[in-house]
Amino acid sequence: RAWLEEQAWEINAMVRDFYHHFLIHRPEAEEARSYLERRGVSRHTREIFQLGYAPPGWDTLLQFLASRNCSLHRAVDLGLLTRGERGKLYDRFRNRLIFPIYNAQGRVVGFGGRVLDDSQPKYLNSPESSIFNKGKLLFGLHLTRAAIREKGYAIIMEGYMDVITAYQHGVRNVVASLGTSLTAEQGHLLSRYTRDVVIAYDADTAGVAASIRGLDLLQQIGFRVRVVTIPEGKDPDEYIRQHGGEKWQQLVETAAPLLDYKLNQAAKNGGSSASLLAQVLPNLAAMPGEAEREEGIRRVAARLSLSWEAVRDALRRFNKNPGR
Ligand code: UTP
Ligand code: MN
Ligand code: MN
Ligand code: MN
Ligand code: MN
Repeated sequence: RAWLEEQAWEINAMVRDFYHHFLIHRPEAEEARSYLERRGVSRHTREIFQLGYAPPGWDTLLQFLASRNCSLHRAVDLGLLTRGERGKLYDRFRNRLIFPIYNAQGRVVGFGGRVLDDSQPKYLNSPESSIFNKGKLLFGLHLTRAAIREKGYAIIMEGYMDVITAYQHGVRNVVASLGTSLTAEQGHLLSRYTRDVVIAYDADTAGVAASIRGLDLLQQIGFRVRVVTIPEGKDPDEYIRQHGGEKWQQLVETAAPLLDYKLNQAAKNGGSSASLLAQVLPNLAAMPGEAEREEGIRRVAARLSLSWEAVRDALRRFNKNPGR
């Protein structure tokens, strides 16, 4: 089991180097390089994240792996090669920009590949395997964990490019959940580095829904949670590229504490103050300390024009019977 893991990391590292070398040096990668240029990804950043390019051919990686006497069977297990109808092997990633995905210890466990235009699927990721479990990883963490500890909090974003652009602009306490479904495992992984988190998901319907799910999940794990609302329907990559790292930092400082964010979102959907109160009772109940809970009760009461006692009594009833 241990040596299988090591063998997988070794193959993945070799493949990362292959794709990276292709991106940096080969004439066939010109389109990929100009794509990165257009998106403002510097040469230095391409090195830091070891970005790569998978060429369009069906067997470029296959030939390379064969020439290195790599176990093709293992390469299939890792999702680098795919077995076709009649057992024929071909490259999984073709004509895609490659984002190596590392675990927190800095081993390459998988890859994401982006198309260079707007065809579908936009991103193709390594399939789940013994060493690649997307729901247990946070993209960028191997590079950013020191900054997360130093800053005392982490910013969770959705995607590869959000983290890469933030990092390039000096915002280094960031990770991506690689999509909008944050898992408890990802939360636990992050909790080794901090207990304070800012959710910075895309300013679209999916991002808002995911922020609310993520907020509950992270609070349950014991995080202090705030949520950033990015203006103009953008994602962090777009916002930072347009406005820069300083403006982003200012935006993060305006992040709403979880109760405020949740009440604001709930209020947008309408409903009585009783139903709004019901939606935040679980969050009040999950507040870690007495002082924080008192403060939370005060804020909810003010916000819903209820008395402090009314909120406290509702919370007591909730605590006696959380299922209701
Ligand atoms: P988004 O749709 O927000 O993409 O998905 P993005 O990160 O802004 O991508 P760009 O800027 O167009 O390049 C957020 C994340 O969800 C995962 C990826 O990790 C992506 O970064 N995703 C998205 C997939 O795995 N597959 C997809 O087809 C789309
Ligand atoms: Mn290099
Ligand atoms: Mn999105
Ligand atoms: Mn984007
Ligand atoms: Mn996005």
